[in-house]
Amino acid sequence: MIACQTSGLSVAYHTEPVLRNVDFSVSAGAVMGIVGPNGAGKSTLIKAMLGLVTPLTGTSEFFGQSLSRVRQRVGYMPQFTSVDWDFPTTVRDVVLMGTYGRLGWLRRPGRAEKETAATAMAQTGITDLARRQIGELSGGQRQRVFLARALAQEPDLFFMDEPFQGIDAKSQRAIVSVLHRLRQAGKTVVIVHHDLATVQDFCTHVTLLNQTVVSCGPVDEAFTSEHLRHAYRVGDTEQGFFEPDNSRGPRVEVAP
Ligand SMILES: Nc1ncnc2c1ncn2[C@@H]1O[C@H](COP(=O)(O)OP(=O)(O)O)[C@@H](O)[C@H]1O
Ligand SMILES: [Mg+2]
Repeated sequence: MIACQTSGLSVAYHTEPVLRNVDFSVSAGAVMGIVGPNGAGKSTLIKAMLGLVTPLTGTSEFFGQSLSRVRQRVGYMPQFTSVDWDFPTTVRDVVLMGTYGRLGWLRRPGRAEKETAATAMAQTGITDLARRQIGELSGGQRQRVFLARALAQEPDLFFMDEPFQGIDAKSQRAIVSVLHRLRQAGKTVVIVHHDLATVQDFCTHVTLLNQTVVSCGPVDEAFTSEHLRHAYRVGDTEQGFFEPDNSRGPRVEVAP
């Protein structure tokens, strides 16, 4: 089953083209890494699929349907730098927001929603921070809050945009353990990931992106030094460029 796909996706900001004719598809249960240099259009790809940026061309489907029909099944953790942190609200309220899609606008969160939020906070190690203002937290703590909000939504498909960017070791471990849990539960994850050295630790599949799709598929096929050179446009004479070790499989357990 395909969890999400887009075809013929092109995006421009003003007149500047950012994505050109991108075809992209993620099987249910995969952890798909989106990898490419700064400014390659990784965040834009996710935003365009989720309707946060209007594409010039292209359509996207989620579980075979338009996003509006399955919005509750799709979670999104935005890139760290793109969120307004001055918003005056507590950690607990941000996480509870994850349950609103299930509630509709008129009902207030009840016991079930509060329990879901509490579980999400425990899984991300932020229970102690529940009453704190979001603006007071460190970068890693904030990332965990937004991960908890996405978990509280209980989606089947998660989009995470550079969840490891600028965070401490404890937050990193918390996010890694959530990734493993999602994987084991058969959820689908699309993760923008910057660190080439750990792509194989987290991802079962990779899309190398630089305005267009350079490669897309299982890690062994898509994450090769040849494709990486192409995506990062590094010449063959470049010394010490990242060489993936394809002799080992992903460390994330692959569901049967
Ligand atoms: N809101 C915006 N307005 C204008 N240009 C943008 C906007 N967002 C991103 N860009 C530009 O689009 C390109 C792709 O950005 P982005 O998708 O954020 O790349 P990545 O996530 O791969 O680093 C970059 O050149 C960036 O400067
Ligand atoms: Mg980005």
